[in-house]
Amino acid sequence: MLFDTHAHYDAEQFDPDRHEVLARLPEQGVSLVVNPGCDLATSAAAVELAHRYPFVYAAVGYHPETCAPYRPSDLEQLRAWCRDDKVVAIGEIGLDYYWEENPPREHQKAVLRDHLALAQELDLPVIFHNREAHGDTMDILRQFPRVRGVMHCFSGSVEMARELVKMGWMISFTGVLTYKNARKSVEAAAAVPMERLMIETDSPYMAPVPHRGKRCDSSLVIHTCETLARIRGLTTEECARITLENGCRFFGISAPEIS
Ligand code: NI
Repeated sequence: MLFDTHAHYDAEQFDPDRHEVLARLPEQGVSLVVNPGCDLATSAAAVELAHRYPFVYAAVGYHPETCAPYRPSDLEQLRAWCRDDKVVAIGEIGLDYYWEENPPREHQKAVLRDHLALAQELDLPVIFHNREAHGDTMDILRQFPRVRGVMHCFSGSVEMARELVKMGWMISFTGVLTYKNARKSVEAAAAVPMERLMIETDSPYMAPVPHRGKRCDSSLVIHTCETLARIRGLTTEECARITLENGCRFFGISAPEIS
Protein backbone atom coordinates (compact mmCIF):
# COMPACT_ATOMS: atom_id res chain seq x y z
CA MET A 1 0.00 0.00 0.00
CA LEU A 2 2.39 2.69 -1.19
CA PHE A 3 1.56 6.17 -2.48
CA ASP A 4 4.16 7.59 -4.88
CA THR A 5 3.15 11.24 -4.66
CA HIS A 6 5.37 12.43 -7.54
CA ALA A 7 6.30 10.60 -10.76
CA HIS A 8 6.63 11.71 -14.38
CA TYR A 9 5.28 8.88 -16.56
CA ASP A 10 4.91 11.34 -19.43
CA ALA A 11 8.74 11.51 -19.61
CA GLU A 12 10.41 10.18 -22.76
CA GLN A 13 12.40 7.69 -20.67
CA PHE A 14 9.13 5.72 -20.46
CA ASP A 15 8.38 5.82 -24.19
CA PRO A 16 9.50 2.21 -24.80
CA ASP A 17 7.38 0.60 -22.06
CA ARG A 18 5.20 3.21 -20.29
CA HIS A 19 2.07 1.07 -20.21
CA GLU A 20 3.84 -2.11 -19.10
CA VAL A 21 5.49 -0.22 -16.21
CA LEU A 22 2.20 1.39 -15.10
CA ALA A 23 0.13 -1.78 -15.43
CA ARG A 24 2.56 -3.66 -13.13
CA LEU A 25 2.46 -1.13 -10.28
CA PRO A 26 -0.59 -2.42 -8.35
CA GLU A 27 0.88 -5.94 -8.08
CA GLN A 28 4.15 -4.32 -6.88
CA GLY A 29 2.32 -2.73 -3.95
CA VAL A 30 1.87 0.76 -5.38
CA SER A 31 -1.74 1.84 -4.77
CA LEU A 32 -1.61 5.49 -5.86
CA VAL A 33 0.53 7.75 -8.05
CA VAL A 34 0.38 11.51 -8.71
CA ASN A 35 1.85 12.54 -12.07
CA PRO A 36 2.59 16.28 -12.25
CA GLY A 37 2.97 18.09 -15.58
CA CYS A 38 5.84 20.48 -16.38
CA ASP A 39 4.29 22.48 -19.26
CA LEU A 40 1.10 22.28 -21.35
CA ALA A 41 2.08 19.16 -23.34
CA THR A 42 3.17 17.14 -20.29
CA SER A 43 0.15 18.34 -18.30
CA ALA A 44 -2.11 17.07 -21.09
CA ALA A 45 -0.23 13.75 -21.02
CA ALA A 46 -0.61 13.56 -17.22
CA VAL A 47 -4.37 14.09 -17.47
CA GLU A 48 -4.59 11.40 -20.14
CA LEU A 49 -2.66 8.88 -18.01
CA ALA A 50 -4.90 9.69 -15.05
CA HIS A 51 -7.92 8.81 -17.17
CA ARG A 52 -6.38 5.56 -18.33
CA TYR A 53 -5.31 4.26 -14.89
CA PRO A 54 -7.67 4.42 -11.90
CA PHE A 55 -4.72 4.67 -9.46
CA VAL A 56 -3.05 7.60 -11.30
CA TYR A 57 -3.95 11.22 -10.53
CA ALA A 58 -2.64 14.31 -12.33
CA ALA A 59 -1.36 17.78 -11.49
CA VAL A 60 -1.03 20.54 -14.09
CA GLY A 61 1.25 23.54 -14.45
CA TYR A 62 4.60 24.91 -15.56
CA HIS A 63 7.86 23.71 -14.00
CA PRO A 64 10.39 26.56 -13.52
CA GLU A 65 12.93 24.91 -15.84
CA THR A 66 10.41 24.66 -18.70
CA CYS A 67 8.34 27.79 -18.06
CA ALA A 68 9.85 29.92 -20.86
CA PRO A 69 6.80 29.49 -23.19
CA TYR A 70 4.28 30.33 -20.41
CA ARG A 71 1.79 33.08 -21.24
CA PRO A 72 -0.95 34.28 -18.85
CA SER A 73 -3.49 33.12 -21.47
CA ASP A 74 -2.44 29.52 -20.62
CA LEU A 75 -4.33 29.92 -17.35
CA GLU A 76 -7.59 29.23 -19.21
CA GLN A 77 -6.37 25.75 -20.22
CA LEU A 78 -5.01 25.06 -16.73
CA ARG A 79 -8.30 26.17 -15.18
CA ALA A 80 -10.24 23.89 -17.53
CA TRP A 81 -8.10 20.86 -16.59
CA CYS A 82 -8.60 21.62 -12.89
CA ARG A 83 -12.33 20.97 -13.28
CA ASP A 84 -11.45 17.33 -13.98
CA ASP A 85 -11.96 14.95 -11.02
CA LYS A 86 -8.59 13.29 -11.64
CA VAL A 87 -6.67 16.57 -11.46
CA VAL A 88 -5.80 17.03 -7.78
CA ALA A 89 -3.14 19.78 -7.68
CA ILE A 90 -1.32 22.58 -9.46
CA GLY A 91 2.22 21.48 -10.26
CA GLU A 92 4.98 21.05 -10.72
CA ILE A 93 5.65 24.73 -10.02
CA GLY A 94 8.43 26.57 -8.23
CA LEU A 95 11.83 28.18 -8.67
CA ASP A 96 15.06 26.69 -9.98
CA TYR A 97 18.21 28.83 -9.87
CA TYR A 98 20.60 25.91 -10.32
CA TRP A 99 21.04 25.91 -14.10
CA GLU A 100 22.39 29.03 -15.74
CA GLU A 101 20.34 28.36 -18.89
CA ASN A 102 17.03 28.24 -16.95
CA PRO A 103 14.44 30.93 -17.76
CA PRO A 104 15.24 34.34 -16.20
CA ARG A 105 14.46 34.55 -12.49
CA GLU A 106 11.94 37.37 -12.95
CA HIS A 107 10.00 35.23 -15.45
CA GLN A 108 10.11 32.21 -13.12
CA LYS A 109 8.74 34.33 -10.29
CA ALA A 110 5.95 35.80 -12.43
CA VAL A 111 4.90 32.32 -13.62
CA LEU A 112 5.00 31.05 -10.06
CA ARG A 113 2.83 33.90 -8.74
CA ASP A 114 0.20 33.24 -11.45
CA HIS A 115 0.09 29.54 -10.53
CA LEU A 116 -0.18 30.27 -6.79
CA ALA A 117 -3.00 32.73 -7.47
CA LEU A 118 -4.78 30.02 -9.49
CA ALA A 119 -4.32 27.50 -6.68
CA GLN A 120 -5.77 30.03 -4.24
CA GLU A 121 -8.72 30.77 -6.53
CA LEU A 122 -9.53 27.07 -7.06
CA ASP A 123 -8.57 25.97 -3.52
CA LEU A 124 -6.19 23.33 -4.87
CA PRO A 125 -2.89 22.23 -3.31
CA VAL A 126 0.40 22.88 -5.11
CA ILE A 127 3.40 20.64 -5.80
CA PHE A 128 6.51 22.77 -5.39
CA HIS A 129 10.01 22.39 -6.81
CA ASN A 130 12.73 24.52 -5.22
CA ARG A 131 16.37 24.27 -6.15
CA GLU A 132 18.90 26.80 -4.87
CA ALA A 133 16.07 29.31 -4.41
CA HIS A 134 15.15 28.93 -0.72
CA GLY A 135 15.01 32.69 0.04
CA ASP A 136 12.81 33.75 -2.88
CA THR A 137 10.64 30.64 -2.41
CA MET A 138 9.81 31.52 1.18
CA ASP A 139 9.30 35.23 0.33
CA ILE A 140 6.74 34.40 -2.37
CA LEU A 141 4.98 31.69 -0.34
CA ARG A 142 4.47 34.15 2.52
CA GLN A 143 2.49 36.30 0.05
CA PHE A 144 0.04 33.38 -0.44
CA PRO A 145 -0.73 32.29 3.12
CA ARG A 146 -3.90 30.46 2.10
CA VAL A 147 -2.16 28.19 -0.40
CA ARG A 148 -1.21 24.74 0.93
CA GLY A 149 1.46 22.74 -0.78
CA VAL A 150 4.06 20.04 -0.67
CA MET A 151 7.76 20.83 -0.90
CA HIS A 152 8.78 18.00 -3.18
CA CYS A 153 12.22 16.34 -3.07
CA PHE A 154 12.93 18.38 0.03
CA SER A 155 16.52 19.61 0.18
CA GLY A 156 16.33 22.45 2.68
CA SER A 157 17.28 22.80 6.33
CA VAL A 158 15.39 21.64 9.42
CA GLU A 159 14.50 25.31 10.03
CA MET A 160 12.95 25.64 6.57
CA ALA A 161 11.02 22.38 7.06
CA ARG A 162 9.68 23.67 10.40
CA GLU A 163 8.62 26.98 8.86
CA LEU A 164 6.79 25.20 6.03
CA VAL A 165 5.03 22.94 8.53
CA LYS A 166 3.93 26.02 10.47
CA MET A 167 2.47 27.37 7.20
CA GLY A 168 0.46 24.16 6.83
CA TRP A 169 2.69 22.58 4.19
CA MET A 170 3.76 18.97 3.65
CA ILE A 171 7.35 17.80 3.18
CA SER A 172 8.12 15.04 0.70
CA PHE A 173 11.23 12.92 0.23
CA THR A 174 12.55 11.09 -2.82
CA GLY A 175 15.21 8.39 -3.12
CA VAL A 176 17.74 11.10 -2.20
CA LEU A 177 16.88 10.21 1.42
CA THR A 178 18.62 6.85 0.88
CA TYR A 179 21.88 8.39 -0.39
CA LYS A 180 25.02 8.37 1.73
CA ASN A 181 25.38 12.17 1.62
CA ALA A 182 21.76 12.82 2.65
CA ARG A 183 22.54 13.93 6.21
CA LYS A 184 20.51 17.17 5.89
CA SER A 185 17.48 15.37 4.47
CA VAL A 186 17.66 12.75 7.22
CA GLU A 187 17.68 15.51 9.86
CA ALA A 188 14.63 17.15 8.27
CA ALA A 189 12.84 13.78 7.95
CA ALA A 190 13.37 13.21 11.68
CA ALA A 191 12.17 16.69 12.68
CA VAL A 192 8.90 17.03 10.72
CA PRO A 193 5.67 15.78 12.38
CA MET A 194 4.84 12.34 10.94
CA GLU A 195 1.44 13.51 9.65
CA ARG A 196 3.20 16.07 7.40
CA LEU A 197 5.45 13.62 5.54
CA MET A 198 4.97 12.09 2.11
CA ILE A 199 7.20 9.90 -0.06
CA GLU A 200 7.78 9.97 -3.81
CA THR A 201 10.14 8.79 -6.52
CA ASP A 202 10.31 11.73 -8.97
CA SER A 203 10.53 8.94 -11.59
CA PRO A 204 12.32 8.57 -13.93
CA TYR A 205 14.93 10.44 -11.84
CA MET A 206 16.37 10.03 -8.34
CA ALA A 207 16.32 6.21 -8.08
CA PRO A 208 16.95 5.20 -4.46
CA VAL A 209 19.81 3.02 -3.27
CA PRO A 210 20.39 0.20 -4.32
CA HIS A 211 19.13 1.30 -7.76
CA ARG A 212 20.85 4.69 -7.83
CA GLY A 213 21.68 5.85 -11.36
CA LYS A 214 19.09 3.63 -13.05
CA ARG A 215 15.71 4.68 -14.43
CA CYS A 216 13.34 4.96 -11.50
CA ASP A 217 9.71 3.86 -11.39
CA SER A 218 7.14 3.95 -8.58
CA SER A 219 7.85 0.39 -7.39
CA LEU A 220 11.16 1.71 -5.99
CA VAL A 221 9.40 4.06 -3.55
CA ILE A 222 9.54 1.12 -1.11
CA HIS A 223 13.25 1.88 -0.51
CA THR A 224 12.50 5.47 0.49
CA CYS A 225 9.69 4.14 2.68
CA GLU A 226 12.08 1.72 4.41
CA THR A 227 14.63 4.47 5.02
CA LEU A 228 12.01 6.86 6.40
CA ALA A 229 10.62 4.08 8.61
CA ARG A 230 14.10 3.51 10.04
CA ILE A 231 14.58 7.23 10.71
CA ARG A 232 11.18 7.44 12.46
CA GLY A 233 11.38 4.13 14.37
CA LEU A 234 8.38 2.66 12.55
CA THR A 235 7.86 -0.57 10.65
CA THR A 236 7.90 -0.22 6.87
CA GLU A 237 4.19 -1.15 6.83
CA GLU A 238 3.30 1.57 9.35
CA CYS A 239 5.31 4.13 7.41
CA ALA A 240 3.64 3.09 4.14
CA ARG A 241 0.17 3.35 5.68
CA ILE A 242 0.78 6.75 7.33
CA THR A 243 2.37 8.34 4.25
CA LEU A 244 -0.45 7.00 2.08
CA GLU A 245 -3.06 8.46 4.45
CA ASN A 246 -1.17 11.77 4.50
CA GLY A 247 -1.10 11.89 0.71
CA CYS A 248 -4.81 11.06 0.42
CA ARG A 249 -5.71 13.78 2.92
CA PHE A 250 -3.47 16.34 1.21
CA PHE A 251 -4.67 15.66 -2.35
CA GLY A 252 -8.30 14.95 -1.37
CA ILE A 253 -8.20 11.40 -2.73
CA SER A 254 -10.24 8.71 -0.99
CA ALA A 255 -7.94 6.00 0.36
CA PRO A 256 -8.08 2.68 -1.49
CA GLU A 257 -9.55 -0.29 0.37
CA ILE A 258 -6.97 -2.01 2.56
CA SER A 259 -6.73 -5.56 1.23
NI1 NI B 1 9.32 16.29 -10.63
